[in-house]
Amino acid sequence: MTPQRTAVITGAASGIGLESARWLRDSGVSLILLDRSETVRDVASTLSGEGVRVQAVVADLSDLSAVAEAGERILSLCEGVDILVNNAGVHPKVDGRIAQFEEITLEDWEFVFRVNTSAPFLLCQKLVPSMKRRQWGRVINIASRAGRTYSPRAGTHYSASKAAVIGMTRKIAGDYAAFGITANCIAPGQIETPLARTSTPEVLAEAAKKIPAGRLGSVAEIASAVAYLASDGASFVTGTVIDINGGETMG
Ligand SMILES: NC(=O)c1ccc[n+]([C@@H]2O[C@H](COP(=O)([O-])OP(=O)(O)OC[C@H]3O[C@@H](n4cnc5c(N)ncnc54)[C@H](O)[C@@H]3O)[C@@H](O)[C@H]2O)c1
Repeated sequence: MTPQRTAVITGAASGIGLESARWLRDSGVSLILLDRSETVRDVASTLSGEGVRVQAVVADLSDLSAVAEAGERILSLCEGVDILVNNAGVHPKVDGRIAQFEEITLEDWEFVFRVNTSAPFLLCQKLVPSMKRRQWGRVINIASRAGRTYSPRAGTHYSASKAAVIGMTRKIAGDYAAFGITANCIAPGQIETPLARTSTPEVLAEAAKKIPAGRLGSVAEIASAVAYLASDGASFVTGTVIDINGGETMG
């Protein structure tokens, strides 16, 4: 019998994080859902039940002292974390359009890096040791197609923050492979979520035209990969990036 596992999912109040929470809950994993939005508490109570515990932590990951406190709080809520899904991410736009390189301030750059890169780093550092003790663990970082190849639809700060997450994940994968811990990224293309809707409908329609599949992806098409990477069946998959983008970056 598979032991009862506990997953932490950041950015779980919406979009890909929320759908991933549903998929992991349906595979019997207990959850600790983190978000800056108080609505994560309602999500937790909706998903709780049938022998699966779902708890919520409200924290703003752009505040790195709050990230440290959230890490402590998470460990106080469970006996150890088996699965960490670093999903929360930001991509600030300017009036619905991508910020041009020359208009990105250092403040914007640091904000994006705190949420997209530094918070995942701190949470990995805090939670991977409990995986190491159990000799089993899964780190799943939600990167982006923009961290893989040049993307005209992404800001420089966003692209760089996601490329950094991919590099960090590869290093964790190598360092912890001998402890039964895998670390992988998922690089979504354009997925229909509230984050994507911060772009104008015209921008999204143009984007869909450039995707071989001819449409944006769904949150389920990402959450199913999260559930796979979190499973026992994915134990030999580590240090990889799964590109899920309707064929945008095929070779
Ligand atoms: N939607 C896409 O097309 C797409 C494409 C590539 C990558 N991604 C990545 O997928 C991940 C999820 O994106 P989504 O589209 O589901 O976004 P979303 O906006 O629907 O959800 C993001 C969640 O993260 C939370 N969040 C944001 N900033 C936070 C902070 N500072 N502290 C705590 N929580 C915070 C939000 O409250 C929200 O619940 C992100 O990392 C994003 O970069 C999305």
